Amino acid sequence: MVHTDDTVKQLQTLDGRKYHANSKIAYLMPEDADEANRLQKQHVVLKYNLQGNFKAPLREALEEGIVVLDSGCGPAAWTFDVAKEFPNSKFHGIDITPQAFPEDVKPDNCEFQVANITEHIPYPDNTFDYIHQRLLVMGLTHENWDNTLKEMFRVLKPGGYIELHEPNLMKMRNTGPFIKQLHDTITGMLESRQIPANIALQLDDRVSNAGFDVEQIIITPMAVNHRGKAGELLWEDYRHAYVNIRPLMSMQNPNWESVKAYELHMNACGQEAKEKRTFLDWYTCVAQKPLK
Ligand SMILES: C[S@@+](CC[C@H](N)C(=O)[O-])C[C@H]1O[C@@H](n2cnc3c(N)ncnc32)[C@H](O)[C@@H]1O
Repeated sequence: MVHTDDTVKQLQTLDGRKYHANSKIAYLMPEDADEANRLQKQHVVLKYNLQGNFKAPLREALEEGIVVLDSGCGPAAWTFDVAKEFPNSKFHGIDITPQAFPEDVKPDNCEFQVANITEHIPYPDNTFDYIHQRLLVMGLTHENWDNTLKEMFRVLKPGGYIELHEPNLMKMRNTGPFIKQLHDTITGMLESRQIPANIALQLDDRVSNAGFDVEQIIITPMAVNHRGKAGELLWEDYRHAYVNIRPLMSMQNPNWESVKAYELHMNACGQEAKEKRTFLDWYTCVAQKPLK
């Protein structure tokens, strides 16, 4: 494993959980084993809901052998899954969180580097055929998104594809007052840190502005706590993610300094989602770097 940026190690502990405490890193989720486990489980839920691991038209190329970057790969659940399916392709994962990457069990065609994608993606120009990035909604400021897309453009080969996945966190469909309060709080928290809460809706414009040709914006509605096992698992993941940022949510709403009060609110959200048949809209943006 290569470490390119020592500043990534600055952490703070809030209510027993470790969070980034580096002014260069906006990311809000904790950096610990519980969060890494959540991301592993989440991969299974997303793969099921999205009916596969990718949308870019690259199956044949992946089978023949191409070079792939998973940007902000976390514990590499997607990276390993796709790497195993396509052994002729070479996969590179990068993340600011080194602990998350399971170096000991990686497939032979996977490499990992620690890097801050908003500053420098540590590869030469025109290296990759395909760049995948999923769920940076809690991690990149407006400026960070611009810098990251610029870096992606630089390291992608002409004709290569990027594929970005983000949920519309700000506005789920068929909700009630409990989920609305949760969303208003998270939106306030993200916007106060210059993080665009509605990044899913901005992908089209941002990706075009960075020079890519947008080929597809796919919106996949995901059932939250209804429609059987998939809905239940998505709800469990959504709840777990919110539990993992309670210390930050309680800075916006002091009532949630109480673990019990927060738990009751989350229970009410789960009930509301079930009764109202809530949907989360998942946005996938597939775009290509022009050949010239
Ligand atoms: C919600 S997780 C998603 C992980 C993975 N993409 C997945 O879908 O399972 C977001 C990841 O982005 C990483 N991250 C956040 N800000 C980053 C930055 N500036 N540079 C590199 N990685 C970053 C976090 O450490 C975390 O592992």
